[in-house]
Amino acid sequence: MTASTLYVCISCRGTPPGPPDAARPGARLLAAVERLAAEQPQDMQLSIVPVECLSNCQRGCSAAIAAPGKWTYVIGDLDPDRHAGDIVAFARLHQGHQDGLPVWRERPAHVRKSTIARVPPMLNHSER
Ligand code: FES
Repeated sequence: MTASTLYVCISCRGTPPGPPDAARPGARLLAAVERLAAEQPQDMQLSIVPVECLSNCQRGCSAAIAAPGKWTYVIGDLDPDRHAGDIVAFARLHQGHQDGLPVWRERPAHVRKSTIARVPPMLNHSER
């Protein structure tokens, strides 16, 4: 099973954006996701990587899940107090699917509703 990487934007101010000097909801989302991921079974090989801006600021908080040879997803409208579990659950489904295409109806409702983009796996041009 290929390990997945979950990128969490720590710069997001949420929707609607909070004041510039307030603690960033994106940083709170990262902390919540790290807490939940630590409670997952050991077979879940998930790397959690903080990033600054996934270019989805108007619909933050934002996160992306990716793995070599798999589809990549950007998920938005994430509330750090409500959706960390949805992201971790989706990451688990993504990791478990060979192509990174979890079955639609099995995806958490928030992920179904707030997928901003999906990007196909990178082509290996040397094989063409
Ligand atoms: S600041 Fe989070 S997506 Fe831009």
